[in-house]
Amino acid sequence: MPPAADHSSAVQAPGPKHVAIIMDGNGRWAKARGMPRALGHRAGVQALKRTVEAAPGLGVECLTVFGFSTENWRRPAQEVSELMGLVKLYVQTDLARLAREGVQVRILGSRQGLPPDILEIVDRAEAATAHNAGGFLLQVAFNYGGRADIVEAARRFAHVVQSGQARPDDLDEAGFDRLLCTAKGPPLDLVVRTSGEVRLSNFLLWEAAYAELVFQEILWPDYGAEALAEAIEQYRRRDRRFGGVESHDAVAAG
Ligand code: FPP
Repeated sequence: MPPAADHSSAVQAPGPKHVAIIMDGNGRWAKARGMPRALGHRAGVQALKRTVEAAPGLGVECLTVFGFSTENWRRPAQEVSELMGLVKLYVQTDLARLAREGVQVRILGSRQGLPPDILEIVDRAEAATAHNAGGFLLQVAFNYGGRADIVEAARRFAHVVQSGQARPDDLDEAGFDRLLCTAKGPPLDLVVRTSGEVRLSNFLLWEAAYAELVFQEILWPDYGAEALAEAIEQYRRRDRRFGGVESHDAVAAG
């Protein structure tokens, strides 16, 4: 008779290698303190720094954060420019450390519509950390939308077909993966959203197909090592089946 599944096993389930975070709740954090929203976003940058510092020690190899969505352009012009300014501030105050500490920075999303100074910052961040390829990967989704990225990938393949270099039937899921802006990162294991909101908001729609989702009540500016460890603990307790049978059943069946 096969042994009964032992969920209390001392061997810990593996943690996620690639974690994506929807950093939500900056505005509510500021409002609760009677502060302008901009200060909530500034505190959000500090939370991002803490989280990036903590991630490698928790076994994470790639962190993808949602910095600015294609929908965020609908916010008041003042707030849009503040969010752009914060990316600048983050790069200006942290790029040297990231480069030194083995972090590779990659910006995901469309460059179209970004002001020249932000484009310059984005290029500088990628160039200054390119030598860290193979180390910890920080992907900042900026002017990013999951649907837009899927449409862009479809367009790219259509052009390849039009040029006669491929036939429509050549495309499979792995090939489509390679056309997305996330192609260079590892597969996504875990999506975290803070502030108690329970939706993906157009973030990594294709990539999240089999990711675990963890929703935490904490507002983003309060985030850091402890909250990330708690999200990872929740992930470890999940049984990822990818549409198959439970992992311990598969092991028992050989
Ligand atoms: C959601 O809070 C957060 C954002 C729209 C942007 C996240 C940006 C940062 C954390 C700033 C730093 C980013 C980078 C890439 C350096 P919200 O304003 O929607 O909060 P609310 O739902 O409480 O109003």
